[in-house]
Amino acid sequence: MLFKQQAWLRQKLLVLGSLALGSLLYLVARVGSLDRLQPICPIEGRFGSAHSQVEFPIRALQSKRGLLHEFRKGNASREQGRLHDLVQQLPKAIIIGVRKGGTRALLEMLNLHPAVVKASQEIHFFDNDENYAKGMEWYRKKMPFSYPQQITIEKSPAYFITEEVPERIYKMNSSIKLLVIVREPTTRAISDYTQVLEGKERKNKTYYKFEKLAIDPNTCEVNTKYKAVRTSIYTKHLERWLKYFPIEQFHVVDGDRLITEPLPELQLVEKFLNLPPRISQYNLYFNATRGFYCLRFNIIFNKCLAGSKGRIHPEVDPSVITKLRKFFHPFNQKFYQITGRTLNWP
Ligand code: A3P
Repeated sequence: MLFKQQAWLRQKLLVLGSLALGSLLYLVARVGSLDRLQPICPIEGRFGSAHSQVEFPIRALQSKRGLLHEFRKGNASREQGRLHDLVQQLPKAIIIGVRKGGTRALLEMLNLHPAVVKASQEIHFFDNDENYAKGMEWYRKKMPFSYPQQITIEKSPAYFITEEVPERIYKMNSSIKLLVIVREPTTRAISDYTQVLEGKERKNKTYYKFEKLAIDPNTCEVNTKYKAVRTSIYTKHLERWLKYFPIEQFHVVDGDRLITEPLPELQLVEKFLNLPPRISQYNLYFNATRGFYCLRFNIIFNKCLAGSKGRIHPEVDPSVITKLRKFFHPFNQKFYQITGRTLNWP
């Protein structure tokens, strides 16, 4: 009888223990999903002491974090947002390019910072006339909800190469911070080609080889009419931007280094954005299967970029690569000179 009672008690304790553990795990998961920011950086540390004018009581913050999550999922009303001080803010920094430079990786990695909120989609406000005609309020409403102390960042790589964009951004905010992520120009051009090629293949269309597009068959010189080549002449585009913004408002991110060694690149961006350093090695882990660094928000939530990032490039004739590198060389030198950032491109 006593033995039976003991067994019953043990069973009951086991059930209760599992229940408690389950609840604990659920709570950790829920809090993590409500806000990935909390485990990295407590709210009072978000901006360092100089910036922490507003202090949220922790309890109120819990519900606010939940609300921010509901907003992201589209489940909360604007009225609720107003009640909780959530706002849609124009970006204080924009990743203006370069296409295939690693713009998505940069945005996602910066979003690890508790003071940064990303606009998930490319908005194409400044480069698309139809969108631009909808006005600044339309643009602002495309922004995610955030707390007033956070900064919103958007990325649309087409901005870098589109003629009208610098003036339009200048009219919105002449002191905005501009991030340009670049990769070795020939690699970037091949990456650009690979993306277009994949699109063609998906539609069962045939496409030219990279060599045929990049080299003019009549002159055997680099084909400067080919968009993938033109986009990689970074200095030409940057010079257009410099008619509106001083160089101090730009920060060049080394996209090749962001692939192999993301943390130091992100730390430079934190500095440029005047953010306290919050992104750490904990937030970035190398995933051997993907062959890239992936993002860790907390003990439960992590993610790698989509498979469309990090495609396998087709093999390109080495003589074409050499020709392209020789072609880009003087433009690269100028780019280093203007930006003050020397990259080890061949
Ligand atoms: P490839 O597909 O040529 O490898 P963008 O986001 O501007 O389109 O840039 C895409 C590039 O981001 C990819 O080019 C990839 O190399 C690079 N990248 C940088 N960091 C990455 C990461 N952590 N995961 C996946 N891709 C990354």
